[in-house]
Amino acid sequence: MSSIPEPNHQSPRAPRPLIALTGASGFVGAHLRERLQNNFRRRALTRSSSVIAHQPADAAIAWQQCDLYSLPKLTEALAGCAIGIYLVHSMAPSSRLMQGNFEDTDLLLADNFIRAAEAAGLRHVIYLSGLMPEGKEELSPHLRSRREVEAVLRSRSVTVTVLRAGLIFGPGGSSFSLLVNLVRRLPVMLLPAWVGSMTHSIDVADVCRAFELALTEPELAGGTYDLGGHTPMTYRAMIHATARGLGKRVWTFDVPFNLFRFSQHWVALFGGVPNALVAPLQESLRHDLQARDNPLLQRLAPGMVSFEDALAQAVDAHGRPLPNPRRVTQRSDQRAIREERRVRSVQRMPQSFSVYVLKNVSTYGEWLSQRSRPPARGAGRRHPAVPRRARLGHATRTHPDPVHRRKRATQGLLHFRRRAKPPGRSAGPVRVPPVSGD
Ligand SMILES: NC(=O)c1ccc[n+]([C@@H]2O[C@H](COP(=O)([O-])OP(=O)(O)OC[C@H]3O[C@@H](n4cnc5c(N)ncnc54)[C@H](OP(=O)(O)O)[C@@H]3O)[C@@H](O)[C@H]2O)c1
Repeated sequence: MSSIPEPNHQSPRAPRPLIALTGASGFVGAHLRERLQNNFRRRALTRSSSVIAHQPADAAIAWQQCDLYSLPKLTEALAGCAIGIYLVHSMAPSSRLMQGNFEDTDLLLADNFIRAAEAAGLRHVIYLSGLMPEGKEELSPHLRSRREVEAVLRSRSVTVTVLRAGLIFGPGGSSFSLLVNLVRRLPVMLLPAWVGSMTHSIDVADVCRAFELALTEPELAGGTYDLGGHTPMTYRAMIHATARGLGKRVWTFDVPFNLFRFSQHWVALFGGVPNALVAPLQESLRHDLQARDNPLLQRLAPGMVSFEDALAQAVDAHGRPLPNPRRVTQRSDQRAIREERRVRSVQRMPQSFSVYVLKNVSTYGEWLSQRSRPPARGAGRRHPAVPRRARLGHATRTHPDPVHRRKRATQGLLHFRRRAKPPGRSAGPVRVPPVSGD
């Protein structure tokens, strides 16, 4: 098993490498799976049987139903693949659990993915993460979660390349739709303080080119690369540039507060994007995010799509955002995902280094013996012996949390299932290296 990608110049007779594309049904996944069709064989993973049912009969791409919660199914789905592309996040409403938050869920899914990748013998994994702010400022939960996913993916023997992007614009993208809808629908806007933060967006076509470079250039393997394509600008400037591009007039008035709670509701309402998605993203808007120069970005620079061209390509003749490629199947997808979903809760518990598995088991056992209600009713309630963030379910696995390790105490992630089984089935801790600075 080689740990780096095969070079670009393969013999014409060599079989094209097989790529496992997680998140293939999503915005970036839909663009990337087309882009990779000439040089790679593709296996696309989705939770939803309805996504598969709606695919055209295209022998060139093999769809496989697989929820990343299931380690055995995932290991089976990755068998025979050489490369994995990780495009999964749990912020969408369909990915939300009855109990649990997106950070805990994303950590668990990433850990499952990299375990399965290692077991299946993948030689290279590429993860699309988020741009990080300069310096040591405290990260928003969304960016902290991206960093945590990077760390857990890098905790195994597989070579992992990380691409970090800010807002990705393109036809069907929720960030762009949100911006365009706000400008179309609101001639007057009260702008909270976060509109003064700098952002560095990029077109989805350039993100796909970055993936191609990372896949084919061996010297780039294993690195972390910021991606930014458009001219860096504040969110305020971006609103005005969008209005100019759409031929609209927008009057804006600044308010010197962030107003996250309030603005998340009007952004979701007028932007046409679910609140569940807006809320975590919005907290990241307070950070100044700019791509730092790097070898991959230098290779990408010639031919970058400008903001104006990205806007023109992502709206129809009436200035309406082009629909998400998944729109046709969205309702049946979400129903199918809800029905097929077996995991109800993923929770994290604080734990000390020395005896954490035993401590978890005894705390959990004590708590379980006093409560025996089904998870949905128990959501949000806890026995005093159980730490604040732990709720109902049964533990199957624990993970130390790399972000909190520096504080000499760590957090454990517990994977809870719907039906109670005897406690103490913890599979033991997963050692994750501390999150390194940039
Ligand atoms: N869009 C941006 O502006 C942007 C910017 C920077 C980084 N990123 C990162 O790029 C990645 C892709 O973003 P996107 O905008 O394309 O997201 P998206 O459209 O919301 O797609 C998310 C994908 O995750 C998959 N997924 C969720 N939970 C899953 C599970 N339990 N098992 C298997 N698959 C699961 C979904 O597949 P199914 O529903 O078919 O199962 C879906 O295809 C994300 O990690 C995101 O954080 C995005």
